[in-house]
Amino acid sequence: MPGVKRLPLSDLRNEIAEVSALKIPAILVFGLPEHKDAIGSEAYAKEGIVQQAVREIKKMAPELVVATDICLCQYTDHGHCGVIRGGEISNDETLELLVRIAVSQAEAGADIVAPSGMMDGQVKAIRNGLDEHEFCNTSVMAYSAKYASAFYGPFRDAAESAPMFGDRRSYQMDPPNRREAMREMALDIKEGADIVMVKPALSYLDVLSEARARFTVPLAAYNVSGEYAMIKAAGQREWLNEKLIALEVLTAIKRAGADIIITYFAKDAARWLLEMN
Ligand code: PBG
Ligand code: ZN
Repeated sequence: MPGVKRLPLSDLRNEIAEVSALKIPAILVFGLPEHKDAIGSEAYAKEGIVQQAVREIKKMAPELVVATDICLCQYTDHGHCGVIRGGEISNDETLELLVRIAVSQAEAGADIVAPSGMMDGQVKAIRNGLDEHEFCNTSVMAYSAKYASAFYGPFRDAAESAPMFGDRRSYQMDPPNRREAMREMALDIKEGADIVMVKPALSYLDVLSEARARFTVPLAAYNVSGEYAMIKAAGQREWLNEKLIALEVLTAIKRAGADIIITYFAKDAARWLLEMN
């Protein structure tokens, strides 16, 4: 992904200084561990890469809101978002691990935890787990309407998290289905989600807009890696004006109803917007 790097801890200080200078209010942290295994142990290790990063970020910039991804796929050797038993995802066994990840990231200082694996009951399990460990002020941003999309390709390459067998269609949503997205969001709100998300953003603006009309909680939209890569590639070839296209797309996501936009354009967009003001 042009313009997007995997950062070692030693580069964190510069990155956070840049983000703060651009007045970006919040970041979402993903981890790429040195070792992967069947149960994603590094995801909930006290010295895991995200736990270390979050502790440092909170020291450097206490006012910056830090959200962390809660999933196993970057940490499992098979690349799936859950524990595998007999060739299938074991939902409930996965929940226990997701709670451990959430609690360990909250301990490290995360303000928001963001479960992205689409396991059934993940929001409730994480909310209860956080409350039991006295992290009742840690918010949950639920990836509620996450579709099984080909737009995640560049991210999976970058995170080396493509599944080794099968695909994610048993836990991610079917693209033609909009009502299921409404059901998933309503369920997550009931389970205690503070923010619900639609992902990807661009091909699912109708879902976002319907969610805006139905729900009163803050809505997030994830402008995913493939959406970013398309604009970057066309911009590099001078087929499109990258800046104008990116701002138009972000505006469309906002217009459709997003309160929060997660985007790889964040630093560029912040720069462009500061220049305009
Ligand atoms: C998996 C996860 C995905 C992304 C972030 N975490 C999707 C997937 O591989 O199924 C995609 C992000 C992007 O494409 O920008 N939990
Ligand atoms: Zn995952």
